[in-house]
Amino acid sequence: MNHDDWLVLEKQVTGWIKEAGVRLKKSLSAPLNIRTKSAHNDLVTNMDKAIEKYLVEKIKEFYPDHKIISEEGFGDKIDSTAGVLWLVDPIDGTLNFVMQKRFFAISIGVYENGQGKAAFIYDVMGDEFFHCIAGSGAYRNEEKLAPLKDVRLEDALIDLSMTWVKPNKRVDQDVLTDIVRRCSGTRAYGAASLELAYVASGLVDAYFTMRLSPWDYGAGLILIREVGGIATRADGSPIDILRRTSIVAGGEALHHEIVAHIQDQMAHGKFLREPL
Ligand code: IPD
Ligand code: CA
Ligand code: CA
Repeated sequence: MNHDDWLVLEKQVTGWIKEAGVRLKKSLSAPLNIRTKSAHNDLVTNMDKAIEKYLVEKIKEFYPDHKIISEEGFGDKIDSTAGVLWLVDPIDGTLNFVMQKRFFAISIGVYENGQGKAAFIYDVMGDEFFHCIAGSGAYRNEEKLAPLKDVRLEDALIDLSMTWVKPNKRVDQDVLTDIVRRCSGTRAYGAASLELAYVASGLVDAYFTMRLSPWDYGAGLILIREVGGIATRADGSPIDILRRTSIVAGGEALHHEIVAHIQDQMAHGKFLREPL
């Protein structure tokens, strides 16, 4: 697609997302139909499905030859990044949606032959819309985001779930307790797309997680790269956008410092298990 095509797509997706946001907001005044998936805190609601169906139908209507990876089953079965690929999460932060009625987002990332091209993350209740067309700058609503600054770990706010600093099956917890001890403070918002958008907008300086799916991080990675940030797997290796992955994201220097620390810990026998 050429630059003008991406601008058209941006306009369309912005319209779809805003409309979906209105539906999500309205849905919060009626009882939700909630089911558990893999665990008691892994929820899906009627609205996750309704919004995904709506977005996938729109994409298929205007871009029938594009492919879609999405969370709730309306997308395609994909094993290649060839062509244009959409990574869609209709509600990122479903637990927040159900329990807090805020801090959830619609996230859409669009890739062409594996290259991030367009990102859209909409915090519905906060009415903050993070978006970019790669190469044209990243925005929060109409405000252009500044390139990320160098921050030392000691001065950094690190976004990470405390899951990773208590005994768990993916990472030796003391790999991270040292980072938590040294940094300026920690935060956790419970919606990966927003947490990546917060890195891109400088609200937090880095984000660490051991387990995200393509629809969680697809858009966020594009935004972070647009402002000069880096996102890799926890061991510093590149992210494969078709797979579940760990993620360390932040400005270049801080990302380097965190990954170097993790690599050093791994060299000393600490374990770090990637998601299957
Ligand atoms: C979840 C959120 C959460 C992250 C989980 C994701 P969902 O997405 O992004 O912050 O820690 O790994 O599954 O299920 O609410 O779309
Ligand atoms: Ca998600
Ligand atoms: Ca979701």
